[in-house]
Amino acid sequence: MPSHPTLLRALRGETLPRPPIWLMRQAGRYLPEYRATRAEAGSFLDLCYSPALATEVTLQPIRRYGFDAAILFADILLVPHGLGRKLWFAEGEGPRLEPLTTAADVAALADDAAMHAHLAPVYETVRRLRAALPEETALIGFAGAPWTVATYMIAGRGKDEQAGAKALMREAPDVFAALMGRLIDATTAYLEAQIDAGAQVVKLFDSWAGALVDDAAAFEAWIQEPAREIRSRLARTRPGVPIIAFPRGAGARYEAFAKAVMAEGVAIDSETPAAWARDHLQPHVAVQGNLDPALLVRGGEELDAAAEAVLDALGAGPFIFNLGHGITPDADPDNVARLVQVVRGEAGR
Ligand code: CP3
Repeated sequence: MPSHPTLLRALRGETLPRPPIWLMRQAGRYLPEYRATRAEAGSFLDLCYSPALATEVTLQPIRRYGFDAAILFADILLVPHGLGRKLWFAEGEGPRLEPLTTAADVAALADDAAMHAHLAPVYETVRRLRAALPEETALIGFAGAPWTVATYMIAGRGKDEQAGAKALMREAPDVFAALMGRLIDATTAYLEAQIDAGAQVVKLFDSWAGALVDDAAAFEAWIQEPAREIRSRLARTRPGVPIIAFPRGAGARYEAFAKAVMAEGVAIDSETPAAWARDHLQPHVAVQGNLDPALLVRGGEELDAAAEAVLDALGAGPFIFNLGHGITPDADPDNVARLVQVVRGEAGR
């Protein structure tokens, strides 16, 4: 019998005896083998664009922990890079881009063909991963959601409450809307290409959705509607491929989001109470989340208890165990191993 990945089963609405587990940023600086490959690559972007090395770092956490899913190693900012914007990673400062502010900047963005040519190494990584992964390990492709990607493109960085994007939305609404429209198209095309290369699930990261949570109209227009549009286009062009949406910080708007977008999975942050998600989201979608990543730094009894609490709250419905945000570089790799044991019910007391 071919083994069907548990991640796909959960996303079809199955409740499993033990949920699938994978972790955001499971390939990263907390792992010594990642740091070694990253040093070999030279820079973070060189790592992203090297199919051999990006495949290697994607597989490292699978080998070490046997997670139920692998996530393509890449970055949400490769799309703006593929659209022709300058991108660099300043050591210790995070990503930087040349700020985009005018209608001419938007008009000058590359077309899909040029973007695909730039991103060809990423698609090659997806092909290599699908060939290398065990059949039971699902391969997740991903992209940034238009709003979050736009905030980096406009401000050139990810800080300051996304003030740059909010200002452009207010002062030059046509420029902002044109950028969002281009990003909806480009993101859909990018995800289609990942699916064609072998991604079995795609995840849409809206890490800065919380910046619009106090403005109902803006949240609906720029968080919910782009996700709904991308989801419905993919349902037409690539039917049967499930999507996980992550509108981080959506708070009470998570429920309307889940109903409107009709993604198969919704990922919740650590601020969203798991019991609330059980009552309000799990009737509609598979829920993914939401252990606080800080517990992988601290470990111990506190980690065990918090993981059990998430399992208790969400384990009786369609559920994917994950964190509420990415693993931090100071996480202890042994704590990650312990977490996997707890979630699989293999932890000795
Ligand atoms: O999850 C994975 O293991 C897959 C790979 C992945 C990365 N970034 C690798 C990465 C994924 C899915 C992302 C998504 C991403 N990138 C998001 C959305 C998720 C989130 O965290 O909210 C965002 C906002 C970005 C943009 C980005 N890239 C930032 C803000 C940073 C700097 C933060 C940091 O930790 O330094 C990056 C760099 C980055 N992307 C690293 C990794 C492993 C660290 C780079 C390094 O090795 O120095």
